[in-house]
Amino acid sequence: MVESKHRQTALDNCEWAVEACGLMKTFGDNRAVDGVDLNVRAGSIYGVLGPNGAGKTTTIRMLATLLRLDAGSARIFGYDVVKEPQIVRQLIGVTGQYASVDESLSATENLVIFSRLLGLGRAESRRKAAELLEEFGLTEAAKRPLKNFSGGMRRRLDLAASLIAQPPLIFLDEPTTGLDPRTRAQMWETIRRLVKTGSTVLLTTQYLDEADQLADRIAVIDRGRVVAEGTVDELKASVGTSSLHLRVQRSQDTEDARQIVEQVLKARSNVSAEAGRITAPMADADLVTDLLIALRTRGISLAEISVQKPTLDEVFLTITGQGVQESTPSESETSNRAEGVRV
Ligand SMILES: Nc1ncnc2c1ncn2[C@@H]1O[C@H](COP(=O)(O)OP(=O)(O)OP(=O)(O)O)[C@@H](O)[C@H]1O
Ligand SMILES: [Mg+2]
Repeated sequence: MVESKHRQTALDNCEWAVEACGLMKTFGDNRAVDGVDLNVRAGSIYGVLGPNGAGKTTTIRMLATLLRLDAGSARIFGYDVVKEPQIVRQLIGVTGQYASVDESLSATENLVIFSRLLGLGRAESRRKAAELLEEFGLTEAAKRPLKNFSGGMRRRLDLAASLIAQPPLIFLDEPTTGLDPRTRAQMWETIRRLVKTGSTVLLTTQYLDEADQLADRIAVIDRGRVVAEGTVDELKASVGTSSLHLRVQRSQDTEDARQIVEQVLKARSNVSAEAGRITAPMADADLVTDLLIALRTRGISLAEISVQKPTLDEVFLTITGQGVQESTPSESETSNRAEGVRV
């Protein structure tokens, strides 16, 4: 079969699942994607991170042959998305931001139909559907029509549908948006397993911790451009500092403590609203000794102190010059944030 031949070649020979160069897309006078380069190594998880409207979905749609490129070029396992779209389509699976399954049919029926379309036999399709429904915790809801499904259930079914064929390259556009924490963790496990069994995953996310947890490499996109690229550690290191987090025992000491922090670290600090938490960038982690001595001298007792690598939040803030508050209004871990810190 043509399909299996291409898949085999793709899996055997190609170092790069995605090689994209200078991707451009303009809608009217809005340049949604403005010269994006992306290289995704076969067998890895690659995260594309960025706020609303950054151009993540548009980039994925171009790579997946769903949208014409205005300029630039892209290859999937060596096949050109413009010149060889039919081959590219056999090598990829796309899970959209919106579920793309039939409303009036049940979850089982949807998955069986997808399986049959992919050429699986009737018994095999039923078996595959049951297996995926079990994996995604949808067994109980399997017979209900989709219109009665919650948002999270739809999303899980959407991912399940895209996994029937387990293509060599899977695009996941915000795979965990709107999922409860347990289902989100389950989704992470599924993604990791996909990669262990030979797939490559390119996912977009607005959640910094998700990229941190899953991705081997990350591209940060802002206003249609890649503003940073590297491993999570490289991106954190590019901020070039450690990060101090400190809380005092008596809230009336907060302002004094903050002044001491700024004097000793020679950096601007930030006090977050919750429980007088002070954060500040540290050029040299050793300064923490001087800081502790200065605080003791002034009689300020600490409830908590830590020196950490900068979080991806801080990295993002440093790179784009703005926080991620607007793009992740409710679900990001506020305790991990260091709002307003400039390094
Ligand atoms: N089909 C379209 N027609 C016109 N404009 C579009 C279209 N698709 C996207 N855009 C615009 O292109 C820009 C990038 O959109 P895109 O959907 O790629 O962003 P995104 O990073 O996926 O954002 P989100 O996090 O909200 O999903 C936005 O300004 C958007 O309004
Ligand atoms: Mg999007």
